Amino acid sequence: MFHVEKITSFDSPGLQPYATMRRPLEQERQGIFVAEGTKVVRRLLESRFDVVSVVLPEKWLDEFRPLLEARPEQIAVYLAEKKLLETLTGFSMFQGVLAVGRIPPPCPLDEVLSKSPRPQLFVAVDELANAENIGALVRNCVAFGVQALLVGETSSSPFLRRAVRNSMGAIFHLPVVELAKLGHRHQFTVKPHAVKLTLAECLKQLRGRGVRCIAAHPRVENKFLSRADFSGDCCIVFGSEGDGISPAVLAACDEAVAIPMPPVVDSLNVGAAAAVFLYEAARQRGTA
Ligand SMILES: C[S@@+](CC[C@H](N)C(=O)[O-])C[C@H]1O[C@@H](n2cnc3c(N)ncnc32)[C@H](O)[C@@H]1O
Repeated sequence: MFHVEKITSFDSPGLQPYATMRRPLEQERQGIFVAEGTKVVRRLLESRFDVVSVVLPEKWLDEFRPLLEARPEQIAVYLAEKKLLETLTGFSMFQGVLAVGRIPPPCPLDEVLSKSPRPQLFVAVDELANAENIGALVRNCVAFGVQALLVGETSSSPFLRRAVRNSMGAIFHLPVVELAKLGHRHQFTVKPHAVKLTLAECLKQLRGRGVRCIAAHPRVENKFLSRADFSGDCCIVFGSEGDGISPAVLAACDEAVAIPMPPVVDSLNVGAAAAVFLYEAARQRGTA
């Protein structure tokens, strides 16, 4: 179901999320995210995620009509020319197709553990800040059969606009266990459904349930990827762009494993490292 409104100004309150695209934390607090581009918006409309609104130039309406008609919820469709949208959002755009969706409640850890078939494969991120890197990692997770992503308390959300864009919509197919963010004075911020454990505590719980936690860590001698065993239940942990995995999280893992590299290269981009690790895990499980 949808209703169409042709806009020539930005007065409608429904357009407010598009005007706050430069304020991603505000959107996260409101429990919404922005999807950009025809492919990602199409994938959002094909997904089970709640869609709030779509804005697009009139020439795209017929193409999106069947998907909009198939949706159970009421969606506001705003027709606007690309130039007007660029003024509203402050961004130059290729296609001028955008949508706002609702961030689903994070999955409870217990539910993910009990519902994921064995051998289980999870990924955790520690202190990962860059939205584009998270998006690329999410895309790799879905490509290689990861069953859930654990987002550490100091990592950025995979629902930031640039993360959703870089995931190419793969985020619509990956259960996310979000650990509550640490706010001022290191108290957990109150967010319904977010797991109030640190990533280190969460990994210890996984290990207690028989899930092997493997740190992807470039500064390891003697333990290279080709010798690691990913055939059982496991969670692969990736670290931040600058400092890598924090000492507490590293200590909470069963082992650390490196992709061997020559001395002139200290590490790979985290998205590239995730692709290499997850391909190896999928290969060992016979799914690659
Ligand atoms: C850019 S790297 C971090 C580099 C950081 N200076 C360090 O030494 O850990 C970001 C993340 O990608 C993964 N990574 C990158 N290169 C890797 C490698 N050669 N072996 C294992 N993991 C790697 C790790 O999880 C790392 O924390």
